[in-house]
Amino acid sequence: MTTAEPAGQRPRGSELLAAARTVIPGGVNSATRLVGAPHALTAASGAHVTDADGRRYLDYHAAFGAILLGHAAPEVDDAVRAAIGGGLDLVGWGVTEPEIELARLVTETIPSAEQMISAMSGSEATAQAIRLSRAVTGRPLIVKFQGGFHGWHDAVARNVISAPDRAYGDDPLSRGILPEALGSTLIAEFNDLDSVRALYEAHPDRIAAVIMEPIPHNVGALVPTAEFVTGLRELTAEQGSLLIFDEVITGFRHALGGYQQVCGVMPDLTTFGKAMGNGYPIAGLAGPRRLMEHFSSAGGDVLLAGTFNGNPVSSAAAIATITYLRDHPDFYERTHTLGDRMRTGLTEICAELGIAATAAGFGGVFSLYFAEAPVRGYRDLMRNNDAAYVAFHRRMTDRGFLMLPLTLKRNHISAAHTAEDVERTLEAAHDVLRTIRKDGLLAAAG
Ligand SMILES: Cc1ncc(COP(=O)(O)O)c(C=O)c1O
Repeated sequence: MTTAEPAGQRPRGSELLAAARTVIPGGVNSATRLVGAPHALTAASGAHVTDADGRRYLDYHAAFGAILLGHAAPEVDDAVRAAIGGGLDLVGWGVTEPEIELARLVTETIPSAEQMISAMSGSEATAQAIRLSRAVTGRPLIVKFQGGFHGWHDAVARNVISAPDRAYGDDPLSRGILPEALGSTLIAEFNDLDSVRALYEAHPDRIAAVIMEPIPHNVGALVPTAEFVTGLRELTAEQGSLLIFDEVITGFRHALGGYQQVCGVMPDLTTFGKAMGNGYPIAGLAGPRRLMEHFSSAGGDVLLAGTFNGNPVSSAAAIATITYLRDHPDFYERTHTLGDRMRTGLTEICAELGIAATAAGFGGVFSLYFAEAPVRGYRDLMRNNDAAYVAFHRRMTDRGFLMLPLTLKRNHISAAHTAEDVERTLEAAHDVLRTIRKDGLLAAAG
């Protein structure tokens, strides 16, 4: 991973990155943060972030989707300040009122949730969900989809953005994963029920759970067909497996009740995180009492532990975020309208310029694939022109529209973005697409 920007153009950012490199491996605390400029950020407010060299960006990166109400949303920051001054910090004993309030809010808003446990990151939530599934079913294997990302732990850190020769095969994201862990996770194709059926046929009575992002946003936005999600629900139930919706990105973002509210299909377990605390570290796992009471806290045999679980400051942030969303249903109308406008605008621009591309997304999330429709599963994404995708994101960022310059990554519209922001983005996109077309990076529409 390299940065395209000459160091001289971002002196302070480059200096900070160099300083960071002496004490943090590679200079960043998560590898994908190293891709492209800016190198260091010093301020964030509403829909904007400012880099160490004083450049301001309209932020569609949104901390990988953790920001939903805008940066430093006053409702959330006020609640955090009140929690800090409220006379109760982390006690690690018994339960506190914010934990109860948060679990109540989540169980009232997520349709399939009767109980929830709180964690600090999405990876912890999916690890808990997978272990619980194995314990409840007594089976060893799980199924995930090519292109889905569910965190960095051994069970799921594989087969996300795979090169064509590694897709569907063994494609771990890391060395150090035990072969037994890799071999216990099977890979299917999104929006292709037969690919899941084939795994059940090959491994009868061995699959504990199917885990899925209801919309795999880690490869942009593959929207599921109704037949696929309902079929998956029926198939997993028939086979005695659990269905896990990993709503770490879709949860609270696309609807108050997550994508399960949108599609009307109820999973057995739901994980969420990211936007739930508008940038504060909090995540959760929810499900029906009959499953959740397998946790050791309720006398079951599945370990529930975590020093920071139920952290009062993070809980306050999540309560404030979810309460805001519950009390402002217009948030969804607004972000969906802006997302629709962005997708329509991008589609029109590509048509006008004769560019073969597909503006995909849902609600306030959008992606511009450089591949012709239909784009339904990972197989279609292997037709994506990665160089054009990265060039588009990078050149948009150079113009002040922060988009993650990694292939297939999505963009997020928050409560702080305006219709005018979207129009400005489309104007810039028009220019950028014209220039990258001129540079020979784009295929013409057929
Ligand atoms: C769908 C999904 N699940 C789980 C995770 C892991 O969450 P975290 O990074 O908070 O551990 C991510 C992170 O990007 C994600 O996108």
